[in-house]
Amino acid sequence: MKLPIAVLLATLCLQVGDSFRIMVVFPLPGKSHTILGDGIVRHLAAAGHEITYVTPSPRKIGPKNVRYIDVSENYKNFPTDTMNLKHFMESEPMDTKFVLETMLKFHNETYHCPNVREIFFDPNQQFDLVIVEWMFSELNAGFGAILGAPFIWVSTTEPHWLVLRLIDEASNPAFSADIMGSGLPPFSFKERVSQLFTQIFVRGLKFMDSSEGKIYSSLAPYFKARGRDQPPLQEIAFNASLMFGNSHVSLGQAVTLPESYKAIGGYHIDSKLPPIPEDLQKVLDNAKHGVIYFSMGSNLKSKDLPDELKKSLLKMFAELKYTVIWKFEEVLPGVPDNVHIIQWAPQTSILDHPKCVLFITHGGHLSTTETVHFGKPIIGIPVFADQFINVDRAVAKGFAKRVDLSMTMADKLKVAINEILQDPKFTAKVKELSFIYHDRPATPGAELVHWAEHVIKTRGAPHLRSPALDVPFYQKMYLDLLALIVAVLLVIRTAVLRIFKKKPSKKQKTQ
Ligand SMILES: *[C@@H]1O[C@H](CO)[C@@H](O)[C@H](O)[C@H]1NC(C)=O
Ligand SMILES: *[C@@H]1O[C@H](CO)[C@@H](O)[C@H](O)[C@H]1NC(C)=O
Repeated sequence: MKLPIAVLLATLCLQVGDSFRIMVVFPLPGKSHTILGDGIVRHLAAAGHEITYVTPSPRKIGPKNVRYIDVSENYKNFPTDTMNLKHFMESEPMDTKFVLETMLKFHNETYHCPNVREIFFDPNQQFDLVIVEWMFSELNAGFGAILGAPFIWVSTTEPHWLVLRLIDEASNPAFSADIMGSGLPPFSFKERVSQLFTQIFVRGLKFMDSSEGKIYSSLAPYFKARGRDQPPLQEIAFNASLMFGNSHVSLGQAVTLPESYKAIGGYHIDSKLPPIPEDLQKVLDNAKHGVIYFSMGSNLKSKDLPDELKKSLLKMFAELKYTVIWKFEEVLPGVPDNVHIIQWAPQTSILDHPKCVLFITHGGHLSTTETVHFGKPIIGIPVFADQFINVDRAVAKGFAKRVDLSMTMADKLKVAINEILQDPKFTAKVKELSFIYHDRPATPGAELVHWAEHVIKTRGAPHLRSPALDVPFYQKMYLDLLALIVAVLLVIRTAVLRIFKKKPSKKQKTQ
């Protein structure tokens, strides 16, 4: 009798012990980053783990097992002057150097935020795992190294060379597109060269930039407080246990991925959809010809559009038979009967509604993921960052049209709307992709929890580490072999030259 009770007790203890202390670091100011961080926290908290969540948007009331570490100071550094629609219409596309610099600022602020310092300086705060967002800098690897815990990178988009190099190797530019660019493989000769150039250029930018190293050096007191030596950033950056990718093959391409890459695209979508306000529900239910939902996302505000453009869009919408729901942050004058302006939108619930027939979007990665999740075709108006490539992908997959942001876009938008809604092939295509998206052995949330726990239970999952990480560039490229061949050829050449030179000289001597 005693033995079974002991076994039972042991099992119970094991189950209690299965609650791990996990830190989740999503410090970037921006709604989409918060949505992604919140999603990770939601799944892990529901699985019963103790979560410490570094976020610029802490909730007042959250689950009992979630502790919020407020880094809302990061909002002070938010470049509001450049991150608005008017600016994007008037200027050149955002350049990579600006993105890198801005991101470094956020990383630095986060590390020096008093609430974060407090954790580092308190050795009682121990963690079993740290999950950090990657955003154009490897600095967040420091969270794992300082706290002495295995860490997981979160890549917020489809896999691309900049993140894959951290867990395996940079993807081949001949057939994989840079995330900030436009255009998809197969590439023309010019595009292929440009992709290679981008990889070299961005590597150069990162190499030349000294501020990342300076910020990392400034973390020395944290390592000291924890009694740890500070390893070089280059060492810890490539030491993640795995990478969660906010991606899925239905959204991107079937690229080669290492074992340590786990695609969990769509995990941010809560299976419990947010409620739709009553008046909006009526608009949706009563739309005779279907609803077009129009939103430029959470960072870009439609209110920043030039007045002239707003007017031309309203005029064009008035000519449509469809109902239009436009997420717009201010009260608009002269709104036609079939257009409904809403300040805030329960986006997933609208996309889920059977009357919703089309989504006009900026093509952010979360929005494009949601369109495939709910099987709705889109018109993409890309504005910055990965939005161009997201929209190009959707167009190539056959469920989207691209319209570029311009003063005269209303006409082009109208043509695109009619094309998509009069030809059933767009909706059929997105439904097909939606099936592929949902047809997985486990939900992305379940995978997330499984692999996070797997890393903890296997102490950093070293068995998933790609051997490519430990091979220097010259060996991968066989530059040593090349050098050897060149050397042998040189020796042979010299020897041959000597033999031919010596012969006449010998003859000369004997004569
Ligand atoms: C690399 O990760 C492993 C597993 O998490 C850990 O044991 C090791 O200390 C890490 N190395 C460095 C330099 O942080
Ligand atoms: C990082 O932040 C600290 C404190 O806010 C500041 O003193 C320092 O200049 C910053 N470093 C860089 C490289 O931006």
